[in-house]
Amino acid sequence: MNTPKRYTITAALPYTNGPIHIGHLAGVYVPADIYARYKRLTGNDVAFMCGSDEHGVPITIKAKKEGVSPQDIVDKYHAIIKKSFEDFGITFDNYSRTSAKIHHDTASAFFKTLYDKHEFVEEVTEQLYDEEANQFLADRFVTGTCPKCGNEEAYGDQCENCGSSLNATDLINPKSAITGNVPTLKETKHWFLPLNKHEDFLKEWILKGHKKDWKPNVYGQVKSWIDDGLRPRAVTRDLDWGIPVPIPGGEGKVLYVWFDAPIGYISATKEWAEKEGKDWEPYWKDQDTKLVHFIGKDNIVFHCIIFPSMLKAEGSYILPDNVPANEFLNLEGNKLSTSKNWAVWLPDYLEDFPNQQDVLRYALTANAPESKDNDFTWKDFQARNNNELVAIFGNFINRVVVLTNKYYDGIVPEASEYTKVDTETLAAVKAYPAVIESSIERYRFREASQELMNLARLGNKYLADEEPWKLVKTDEARTKTIMNIALQIASALATLCEPFLPFTSEKLKGILNTSDNSWSSISTKDVLIPSGHQIGKGELLFSKIEDKTIQEQLDKLEASKKANEAANKAVEPQKDLITFDDFTKLDIRVGTILEAEKMPKTKKLLILKVDTGIDIRTIVSGIAESFTPEEVIGKQVTVLVNLAPRALRGVESEGMILMTETPEGKLVFVNPDTTVNSGLQIS
Ligand code: MF3
Ligand code: ZN
Repeated sequence: MNTPKRYTITAALPYTNGPIHIGHLAGVYVPADIYARYKRLTGNDVAFMCGSDEHGVPITIKAKKEGVSPQDIVDKYHAIIKKSFEDFGITFDNYSRTSAKIHHDTASAFFKTLYDKHEFVEEVTEQLYDEEANQFLADRFVTGTCPKCGNEEAYGDQCENCGSSLNATDLINPKSAITGNVPTLKETKHWFLPLNKHEDFLKEWILKGHKKDWKPNVYGQVKSWIDDGLRPRAVTRDLDWGIPVPIPGGEGKVLYVWFDAPIGYISATKEWAEKEGKDWEPYWKDQDTKLVHFIGKDNIVFHCIIFPSMLKAEGSYILPDNVPANEFLNLEGNKLSTSKNWAVWLPDYLEDFPNQQDVLRYALTANAPESKDNDFTWKDFQARNNNELVAIFGNFINRVVVLTNKYYDGIVPEASEYTKVDTETLAAVKAYPAVIESSIERYRFREASQELMNLARLGNKYLADEEPWKLVKTDEARTKTIMNIALQIASALATLCEPFLPFTSEKLKGILNTSDNSWSSISTKDVLIPSGHQIGKGELLFSKIEDKTIQEQLDKLEASKKANEAANKAVEPQKDLITFDDFTKLDIRVGTILEAEKMPKTKKLLILKVDTGIDIRTIVSGIAESFTPEEVIGKQVTVLVNLAPRALRGVESEGMILMTETPEGKLVFVNPDTTVNSGLQIS
C-alpha cells in the first residue's frame, strides 16, 4: 500500500460570467473530483480547492451589456456555479471566490512581497487605447490577428487557437471589443514579471527535471514556449474592477486577473483551514505535499510557466507536481460556445435528467478529451448508459440483489468449497484496485472508468457461466457459494465505483447495507460482505434512455442553432414581386461624388454634388453619421437618378445614393469595385 501523503488538488477557478457546461465538467471538474475522491479513499490527506474567478474583463463586459454592476454578475453566477458543483457531487473541500476579503488580502500581500523583493520591472510603455471608450485595451477588451498562427479572433492576452500567450500590442490589426474602433497607443505605467529572468529555472525544473512524465500535450506546449524564449509580462492593468495595486503609483490600477486568480487556490486553502482549525501552510509549503492542478488546455501557460514563476519568485512555496491539462470537448461536431448557446448547461441537464448525474459523469469520463479534442454526442451518451451502465453494471447488481432476496430472503449465504473458477474470479477482483489505481495515477481516467466497467463485466460473466438460477434446483451448496462470490464482487464495485459514480456508490452501499470497505481492503480482505449479513431490497441503479429522449436533446440543439443563425441574420422578408417592366423604370447609374458638405444644424445629412454622367446635380444623403465630407469626395457610388426631386431642409435633392447598413449599424456604399466612367447604367 502507498504511504499516505498530503495532496493539494486544485481545479481551475471558473470565470463567473455564466453557468458551466459539459465541457467544463469533462475537462476539469470530473477528473479532478475522481482524483480527489480516490486520494481520500486511499487514506491521504487531501485539500481539494476551487472557487469563482470573479475579476477579469469578460465579467465587466457582461455587466456593461446588462446594465448592472460586475458584483451583481458575479453574485448571480457564483451561486449558480456553486450549486451545479454540489449537484454533480464535486467534492471541493472549499469553493471560495476571488472577491472574498481573504483573497484580496492574500493576493495583495503576494504582490507586495514580490515588489519588495524587486521581482518586478516597473516600466512606462505604450499600450492600446480606445479614444472613444476612454479606456486602455488589454486582454479580452481587444481582438486581432494572432502573430503566431494567423487566427483573426485572438485576444489581447491569448490566442485560443494555438494557445500562445500574447501581449495586446502583439496583435496584428487590433480592434477594440468595446467600440470596434482601431486603438491608438497611449503611455501608461505597469509592473512586469520578467519571465525571461526565470527561463533558466523553468528549463531546469520542467525540461531537465522529472516533468517528462507530464502528459505529452502539456509538456510539448510548455517546451515550445520555453524554446521560443520568454518575455516580461505585465501583471497590472488600467481597470477599475479587480484587486487594487497595493504600492505607491498603483492608484487606479488593478492586478491582472491571471496574477490574482491562481493565488485564489491559496486563499481558498487558507479560508478552509481557518474554518477547520487547521494550518494551511503545509498544504503549500511542505516539500512532501503533492500539488496537482487540473485545468483545460487554454490554461497551460498560466499554470506551467507564469504561476510557477510567481511561486518561485516569492520563494516559500512548493511547485506543482503535475498539471494534467485536458484538451477540449466539442458538442455534436461543433466547438462548445457560450455566446452561440451551443452547449449543454448543467442546470438544464439536471432538469431534463433528474438524479442522473452519474450518467453524465460516466459518459464524460469514458469519452474524456484526454489526449486530443473529443466530441460529445447524445447518441454516445445514450449508448454509454444503455449498453454499459444499464446492461452491464446495473444488470449485474440487479441480478445479485434480486436472487439473494428470492433465494435467501436477502441474507448473504455461506460459501463452501471453491472451484478453480471461483478462486480465479476472487483473485481477479482483488487485482482491480491496483489496475484502476495505475490508470488514475497516470491521469488516464477514461481507461480507469473502463477498468471499473470490466469488473462489472467480470461479475456478469461469472453469473452467466455459473447459472445459479439453474443450479438452485439441484445443488443448494454450490448455489450458495456462487451467490456469495457474486455478492463479494458487488461489494467491491460499491467501493471502487465511488470516484466515478458517487451517487450510485452511495445507493449501492445502501442496498447492500454495508458499511464502507476501504479501497485497499478490496485487495487485502477475503470477505467484503460476510455470510449472515442482511441486504436490502433491489432498486434500479440505472434506467434505459429511449431514442425519443435523445431526439428531444438533439431538437433542442437544433433550435438553438436556428435561433443563433436568425439572430445573426435578421433578414428582412422579401417585398412584393415586381415585373421586369417595373424594374426597367429604375435608372441606376454610376456617379462620382465631386463635393460634399454637412447640412447645417443636422446630424445625419450631407449635401453632395454628384457627377451622374448626365449632369452634375445635388443629392442630399443621410450618411453623415458614417462618413465625414472629406471621406466621400472622389468616391464612386450607385445612384438612382430618376427619382422625383424632393426638398430636404430646403435643399432640393435630385436622386438617391444606394447604401446598405451593416448589422453594427454602419452605412457602406454599394459601389462598383473598379473605377468606371460616371453615367454607366447598372442593370
Ligand atoms: N477563469 C479561468 C478560465 O476559466 C481559469 C482560472 S484558473 C486560476 O479559463 F488558476 F487562475 F485560478
Ligand atoms: Zn494563435
